[in-house]
Amino acid sequence: MEFPAIKFENVWKIYRMGAVEVPALRGLNIEIKRGEHVAVMGPSGSGKSTFLHLAGALDKPTRGRVLIEGKDPSKLSDKELSMLRNRYIGFVFQTFNLIPRLTALENVMLPLVLRGIDGAERIKRAREALEQVGLGHRINHRPTEMSGGEQQRVAIARAIVTNPRIILADEPTGNLDSASAAEVVDLLTKLNRDLGITLVVVTHNPETASPAQRIVKIRDGVIYEEN
Ligand SMILES: Nc1ncnc2c1ncn2[C@@H]1O[C@H](COP(=O)(O)OP(=O)(O)OP(=O)(O)O)[C@@H](O)[C@H]1O
Ligand SMILES: [Mg+2]
Repeated sequence: MEFPAIKFENVWKIYRMGAVEVPALRGLNIEIKRGEHVAVMGPSGSGKSTFLHLAGALDKPTRGRVLIEGKDPSKLSDKELSMLRNRYIGFVFQTFNLIPRLTALENVMLPLVLRGIDGAERIKRAREALEQVGLGHRINHRPTEMSGGEQQRVAIARAIVTNPRIILADEPTGNLDSASAAEVVDLLTKLNRDLGITLVVVTHNPETASPAQRIVKIRDGVIYEEN
């Protein structure tokens, strides 16, 4: 049976802070097909990152149902849940989230360490992932020894080294100058097109959103416009 990559059915997320309830998603519905490239736009505080966290099984809805590749994370054991995250999903963040004292190669190898893949295989696959993002010549550089665009490409290599089915990117060009931003957008778009990886990109930047097949707009925790 063919499942959509991501499906949200009337999803609510209410953060509780002591006595105060903060509703971040208020009955959000969306279906993202396998292989689709979707951009999510909306004002600050509208629920974009919350949406991405739920789509990546990093958090659970308060109400409603999230399905990732047909699986409901809330019905999985802890072990199955970490397998779902590790095998199916790659995350890319605005601030790159690389480990400063590790080289590019070591940063990219990390998800494979968590998966128990042996040393030689780890190095081979991490090197290939870095070559795929055009950084074969930077494998021994640490994050401080690379430009912002290069750091984000290392983060993308780390996201793809596990062969994920889905890449979730939260404002991936937010900290980049326009030339580096364009490179990162091209790279993500190419991974979607050539490898068929489902790509969901949250962004404020219309240029980052523009290559998407579909642009979804969120306001106050619901989708109000699609085109
Ligand atoms: N862990 C949390 N605890 C309590 N409230 C939260 C938490 N995370 C987010 N919120 C609140 O939920 C709402 C949605 O936040 P979210 O981070 O999803 O917005 P966003 O669209 O990603 O915004 P931005 O564009 O600024 O990144 C906001 O009102 C925010 O203050
Ligand atoms: Mg956000």
